[in-house]
Amino acid sequence: MIKYNKHIDNIIRNDTAYGSIDALRLHASERDSVFIHNMWNDFKSSLSQSDIRYYPDVGKGYRLLEDITKIDKSHLMLFDGSDRAIRNIFQIYVEPGSNVITTSPGFPMYEVYTKMFNGNLIDICYSNMQCPVNEIVSAINDKTNLVILSNPNSPLGNLINITTINRILETCIKYNIMLAIDEAYIEFSNQSSMCELAKIHPNLIVIKTFSKAFGSAGIRVGYTVSTKSNRDLLNKIKSMNDITSMSISWLEVLSKYKDQVDNYVNDVKMNRQHLLQTLKTHNVNHIGSCTNFIHIDLKKELSNILTKQCQLFNTNYVRVSIPGDEQNYKLLLNQILESI
Ligand SMILES: Cc1ncc(COP(=O)(O)O)c(C=O)c1O
Repeated sequence: MIKYNKHIDNIIRNDTAYGSIDALRLHASERDSVFIHNMWNDFKSSLSQSDIRYYPDVGKGYRLLEDITKIDKSHLMLFDGSDRAIRNIFQIYVEPGSNVITTSPGFPMYEVYTKMFNGNLIDICYSNMQCPVNEIVSAINDKTNLVILSNPNSPLGNLINITTINRILETCIKYNIMLAIDEAYIEFSNQSSMCELAKIHPNLIVIKTFSKAFGSAGIRVGYTVSTKSNRDLLNKIKSMNDITSMSISWLEVLSKYKDQVDNYVNDVKMNRQHLLQTLKTHNVNHIGSCTNFIHIDLKKELSNILTKQCQLFNTNYVRVSIPGDEQNYKLLLNQILESI
């Protein structure tokens, strides 16, 4: 038997299957609306063979990220997706046998990475849809190395307020441990990001992605915001080339068309509000959301629309992304109304 890290035996993974691209994809919290012609043409005309033949100019990636975020690069670390940022955070902070505290429901990769780095996952259940702050605070002890929360919660979709996060952060300070806040969906909420605090607070790292509000899941870009010294730690274990040349070209387009990103987020928020109101009016069971997806109790399958079946709190709801595109939204709404 070839030697390997036996502790990974208890990690169970399914193949990542994102399904057909012919149907309307509303199952993976992706952007449904197409980008305007000018954006797409700018991207295509910016590409050249050098993007394939040469290593990427990651420095340019950082300059663009500074432009998009208005955060100095000394606080920023780029990754090929925020999933990689999460993994590297686990690699730095989780020692074998130490505890990682998160919530249930929670983003499934937190469990995978806890097991990968031989930690113990303490997942604390939401009750009444509320972040279990008291239970989290009392679970933190000398064995805890990391607390990680997604805000808004993924897959639930609701927000943890700043006061709650600050309470958890204070306990993390007491035990000298890191709090990582995964803000994959924060732009769809009305709450501000914790990035400014993360720039100065040694116990806080914020994880961000271009997959959701920026609608660019395929380019695989995520980043962290932290103090300079936490950035230095992340830098020690970074990949040799953080992101690809094509991702950098796309970042350049995004930096030029920031209004298009805002438009999509606003469209989703507007359609979400309308959808929530409609579900309420028709007494359809659902879980409210501050993200670009929502869980609905649908009695009938939608046709030619991909959705995800989810079990949350003994319900068997369907998770569906909220379209930004008007036609897509109408299609979804009509089918929901037909199914009730
Ligand atoms: C809470 C949360 N964090 C991170 C990710 C990973 O995002 P990325 O595409 O940047 O790897 C997701 C993806 O759905 C997510 O829901």
